[in-house]
Amino acid sequence: MRVLGIESSCDETAAAVVTEDGEVLTDVVASQIAMHGPYGGIVPELASRAHMQAIIPVIREAVAGLEGGLDAIDAIAVTEGPGLVGSLLVGVQVAKALAWSLGKPLVGVNHLDGHLAAVYLRRSGRDEPVEAPELPFVGLLVSGGHTALYRVDSFADIELLAQTRDDAAGEAFDKAAKLLGLGYPGGPVIDRLAAVGDAAAVSFPLPMASRKTLEFSFSGLKTALARRVQEHGVPEDEQSLADLCASFQGVIIESLVRKSILACKQEGLDRLVITGGVAANRGLRARAREVCEVNGIRLFVPPPISCTDNAAMIAMAAVHRLRVGEHDDLSFAVYSRDPDRRRGKFRRDGTLVERT
Ligand code: KG4
Ligand code: ZN
Repeated sequence: MRVLGIESSCDETAAAVVTEDGEVLTDVVASQIAMHGPYGGIVPELASRAHMQAIIPVIREAVAGLEGGLDAIDAIAVTEGPGLVGSLLVGVQVAKALAWSLGKPLVGVNHLDGHLAAVYLRRSGRDEPVEAPELPFVGLLVSGGHTALYRVDSFADIELLAQTRDDAAGEAFDKAAKLLGLGYPGGPVIDRLAAVGDAAAVSFPLPMASRKTLEFSFSGLKTALARRVQEHGVPEDEQSLADLCASFQGVIIESLVRKSILACKQEGLDRLVITGGVAANRGLRARAREVCEVNGIRLFVPPPISCTDNAAMIAMAAVHRLRVGEHDDLSFAVYSRDPDRRRGKFRRDGTLVERT
């Protein structure tokens, strides 16, 4: 089975073709980072327009590299949410039109399921092969919009264990970078600076330090950084800036790793998957490896290219439904917030979730 995945939930227009067992045949990502950079964050209207321009060329490129082109595709998978509505609409409408005209099944995929499924992708000739974890596992999904811990028993049975009370970790990186005048997105540049900085140079409070909760919180940390910048200004010399970044990043990493280990212990599981854009962070990958080893937990982290937004992970997440002959009809609506994980505003059928 060959699945064409389409992703347009945020600022990446992506298409990829993946086989049933996770082999990535083609993978195309058109990033809008350069366009949003000057604004220090994503401008939704600009994002939608850029998706409209990029979507057909990106899909064309993804299938052009494939013997048989579109005819060789057995099914189509598309991100239906959560994300920016105007961005999601572009991918979903193209996917529906393709499925309809080609007479192929269509699966609407939750973007977060996609991130969790990324650990099953296999990319030949790239990095070291990542071993796939057996189910069940604890999944830490850490991206620009989400920071949450899941228990994954199967891709039809994903339970939210805890999430952030306020900002996502990626958001904290992005806001910190904006404060420090480092541009957008903040994660990669802070990662780079932190690698040559001293994480003990500046002391930041560890958020949600209690061992009783799995929840995260990063807005206090952002405020602490803002206060420091207000008092001392942005460090002028490169080393002090690197030290500040290393200290800020260090606290985020410590919080992510501690809660992940706690979740594994609480669930009695010894397999941890870390995924999402922030999982590309070198400091996080190294620290998680260290702490997991001490605690006898097996760690699975996809290569950075699979951690940040891509369409191969969306195709992968659709496979379990396609395998049992399931797919969606062509009338589903997109949603901005995640409906199944209690932060939702809209259900999958487009109806509003009442506030309680
Ligand atoms: O998963 P993703 O590509 O998109 C979302 O679904 O949000 O994640 C994007 C986020 C951004 O906040 C970006 O700053 C962060 O991932 N990120 C990183 C790194 N690379 C990307 N954060 C820390 N270190 C990195 N190397
Ligand atoms: Zn994402």
